[in-house]
Amino acid sequence: MTQPSQSDKPDLRNGIADGDLADGAMLVGQVGDEQVLLARRGQEVFAIGATCTHYGGPLGEGLMVADTVRCPRHHACFSLRTGAALAAPALTAISCWRVEHRDGHIFVRERVTDEPRMAAIPRPTAGPPERIVIIGGGAAGFAAAEMLRREGFDGVVTIVSADDASPYDRPNLSKDYLAGTAPEEWIPLRPPEFYVENAIELRLGTTVSALDVAGRRVMLDAGELLGFDKLLLATGAEPIRLQLPGAELPHVRTLRSLADSRELIARARKGGRAVVVGASFIGLETAAALRQREVEVHVVAPEARPMERILGPALGDFVRSLHEANGVVFHLGRTLATIEAGRVRLDDGASLDAELVVLGIGVRPRIALARDAGLAVGGGVIVDEYLETSTPGIFAAGDIARWPDPLSGERLRVEHWVVAERQGQTAARNLLGRRERYTAVPFFWSQHYGVSIDYIGHAAAWDDIEQRGNISAHDVALRFRKAGRTLAVATISRGQESLLAELAMEEGKSP
Ligand SMILES: Cc1cc2nc3c(=O)[nH]c(=O)nc-3n(C[C@H](O)[C@H](O)[C@H](O)COP(=O)(O)OP(=O)(O)OC[C@H]3O[C@@H](n4cnc5c(N)ncnc54)[C@H](O)[C@@H]3O)c2cc1C
Ligand code: FES
Repeated sequence: MTQPSQSDKPDLRNGIADGDLADGAMLVGQVGDEQVLLARRGQEVFAIGATCTHYGGPLGEGLMVADTVRCPRHHACFSLRTGAALAAPALTAISCWRVEHRDGHIFVRERVTDEPRMAAIPRPTAGPPERIVIIGGGAAGFAAAEMLRREGFDGVVTIVSADDASPYDRPNLSKDYLAGTAPEEWIPLRPPEFYVENAIELRLGTTVSALDVAGRRVMLDAGELLGFDKLLLATGAEPIRLQLPGAELPHVRTLRSLADSRELIARARKGGRAVVVGASFIGLETAAALRQREVEVHVVAPEARPMERILGPALGDFVRSLHEANGVVFHLGRTLATIEAGRVRLDDGASLDAELVVLGIGVRPRIALARDAGLAVGGGVIVDEYLETSTPGIFAAGDIARWPDPLSGERLRVEHWVVAERQGQTAARNLLGRRERYTAVPFFWSQHYGVSIDYIGHAAAWDDIEQRGNISAHDVALRFRKAGRTLAVATISRGQESLLAELAMEEGKSP
């Protein structure tokens, strides 16, 4: 027997009038304890879970595009027909429900399936199985391995990762996890049994020291040789260290890995003082997280405004005031001269106490393996529109890949989580010979004290910035325009507008 719904949303088991759901419209209702999204495309009506499997985004506030829905938070895309997570950052499918049309009404009936839609259990094949080796267990490497199995690849999949931890949610390391508000179980992208069930061999704590292109093998740090038929390079980026006296002292830290984040947590003492060097995304997210732990935070950076080069002056000023309102002290236009135990000295001679120094001064793509193996490099590993390197059968994805972006007509290399995952997914299909072009519009988000700045597109330079809305009310869209064309849109609390801009850019229009 079904219980009456407690929510103010319509109980979809009781049906809604056919005319209440227009073509192209979405509506969120209740089915038992769950919120279900009803979406209409022509005569077809779909019913899938209304909550994004990435971080719970409300899909009803997202965007329906053909028979898919996109999440308003970080742009994940789901199939309305099957619930499959078609595009990262969501990797887990959503439940679907059967829809019945009767007597001019639409009823939602039983759940169709709760099974994760991993298509393939590897099957034995005649002859030796094909082996795909993935170097790097981060965003791109993991997404590629997962997609290889989803696409039915039944050969051997090996991820070699220098990290001791299995693939995890890196963006969270400078946000809720560092602030102490995320439980440990949020961090792994998948539990250990996933790798066993999907026959993904994880070689953790293992560094690839050389790549032998002609011999189709990689050398591991212990001297072991691992052969491959196809290879994905997904080695990511590493934090830049400072070259100045004291930079190697133990309290001077960077943040890239889970171990780094745990080290910062161990050193973050309530009432203590941290100096963050660099007003970058990671530096300032770290500042926000440390403030939540009641650590005193000073930020030292050479620029006049935080993040101005990427977000422009108005958002830069907003980010600064947001941090200042939360107690961060900025020393802008300044660099460090020396670091000593317990304090730092600035270039103007001023001295700041600091029991913890966090460097957030940017990253460098890890391209040494590719370069030493003779692959084409130049500001990253050069790939074509299929993410294939200059050597056939060897692909690259994520922070190291410099790909031809169809929107700008330029080669891009960015450091965005969603881009890395989506490139991993496309590379996986191309490792299987699908010849799929990588055309996704770059997207990133950054979060400070619960305010998320979302950014779609890529604007290295612009003529003007058009602002709609009010930044201090946390309700704004800024369009970065060059020669009359919008290259990028930054938004706060305007998920739909960000999705519409993404769609326009995909269609070659200027949003
Ligand atoms: C703290 C933090 C917060 C972030 N927040 C955001 C955010 O909010 N939004 C956003 O869009 N982006 C964010 N990013 C950026 C995003 O995480 C990266 O763009 C993304 O992780 C890149 O994915 P990748 O697979 O290329 O590299 P990574 O995720 O860095 O993975 C690289 C992997 O390769 C391994 N590796 C490297 N060299 C070798 C080798 N020789 N042998 C074996 N393994 C090797 C590494 O151990 C690692 O496992 C953040 C990054 C950090 C560090
Ligand atoms: S919550 Fe939906 S994409 Fe992140």
